[in-house]
Amino acid sequence: MSAAADVIVGIQWGDEGKGRVVDYFARDYDIIARFGGGDNAGHSIVVGEDTLALRIVPSGVLYPEKDLFIGGGTVVSLQGILEEFKKLSDIGVDISRIKISDRAHVVFSYHSAQDRYNEDTAGERAIGTTGRGIGPAYMDKVARVGVTFGDLYRREAVAEQIRLNLAARSALFLGASVTLPNEKELMEETFAAAELLAPHVVDGVSYIHSALDHDKKLLIEGAQGTLLDVGYGTYPYVTSSHTIAGGACIGLGIGPTAIREVTGVAKAYCTRVGAGPFPSELQDEDGETLRRNGREFGTVTGRPRRCGWFDAVAARYAVQLNGLSSAIVTKLDVLTGLPRIGVVTGYEVDGKAVGMEASADSNLRTTLRFFDGWDDDISGVRTIAALPERAKAYIHALGLFLRVPVKHVSLGPERTQLAS
Ligand code: GDP
Ligand code: IMO
Ligand code: MG
Repeated sequence: MSAAADVIVGIQWGDEGKGRVVDYFARDYDIIARFGGGDNAGHSIVVGEDTLALRIVPSGVLYPEKDLFIGGGTVVSLQGILEEFKKLSDIGVDISRIKISDRAHVVFSYHSAQDRYNEDTAGERAIGTTGRGIGPAYMDKVARVGVTFGDLYRREAVAEQIRLNLAARSALFLGASVTLPNEKELMEETFAAAELLAPHVVDGVSYIHSALDHDKKLLIEGAQGTLLDVGYGTYPYVTSSHTIAGGACIGLGIGPTAIREVTGVAKAYCTRVGAGPFPSELQDEDGETLRRNGREFGTVTGRPRRCGWFDAVAARYAVQLNGLSSAIVTKLDVLTGLPRIGVVTGYEVDGKAVGMEASADSNLRTTLRFFDGWDDDISGVRTIAALPERAKAYIHALGLFLRVPVKHVSLGPERTQLAS
């Protein structure tokens, strides 16, 4: 079997710059595929003066000759993807190259209604979801009452499933002020969207295996981040899918032997949107500076991102979970001008060294190491060797913490602002 599938995943809490990294490397591949999540993701790409924020369409879409695949592990909103298709068509992108697996699950408006309701009634336990219905859609999948893209073309059976799912929600929300879709309108809307999307829906297993059999080069784009993984992240403050590299096998229907390289994308510092443990969080002037200089506001919801120093404990944990072969550090330019740069190098509870498993402990203390900052503008640098000595020392230290080579450093949002 050929093994020409490489995976790129985020190793923090999302928004590491996966879109920008995948967009850069996509030029060397034939197909770029998403394996999990839905339009809770927001992947920004900047080419010249143009900025594009993608939600579910893979980040290679700006190269006209690439094929794009939305795998069976994803959950996809019909209206959401149609809107994204329209935006892309409006800027002249050929969307006929985008294929959706028949195994991907549909996110309905009753899922987003349930997501918002859960959050509104959770009080202090609210997760701070994107409100896109991701959790409820994965709940339906696991409960075996979900609707796949393949089902959409078996009209009678799917109409019955939608009716049952909607009725179950009506019972759940009885007396609550939740607006559920009208059944007739939902059916009409669903089948109209299904017709528009029909040319894009393929047998996802045949598609990916035929590609691999024909020696096509596949780049697999992670969404969210390792610490948001439903099994290994900071549970319950996570998303509802497996975001780690292993999720790529499940989400595309391929075996581990199909995968060659796994590259982790890490920001030069940390951010997190929504609630949950964040041991290296800064609630001071330094945190404000990172937010301002890094423009740390969510692509999907516009929420300010929580900011903190690079967390070597969390990062090393992520290296293990993903089996990383190398790493890419993004947004190094954001640190320019800071007199000193912190890195969390250890966690302690009651004087005892602990790991990621203790990240939610209210007695957790972090150990910090500081590095000297630099003032030179690095946004135009194109080789790691040409970085200022202090920036080089910082990147070198991150490589030692991660224990995998840092092969590239991103120094700005634009496609070409990358040093190797
Ligand atoms: P993703 O979800 O991992 O794809 O990341 P997002 O696109 O949500 O967030 C990353 C943000 O940082 C986007 O606005 C990017 O345009 C921007 N960005 C990516 N890499 C760099 C970089 O090296 N420097 C700077 N200044 N911005 C970057
Ligand atoms: P990308 O791919 C950052 C977070 C939400 C929330 C939690 C659960 O752009 O890196 P969900 O709507 O998935 O049920 O929300 O996960 N979250 C993300 N944070 N980047 C993302 O995606 C995220 N996708 C989900 O903020 O805390
Ligand atoms: Mg994002």
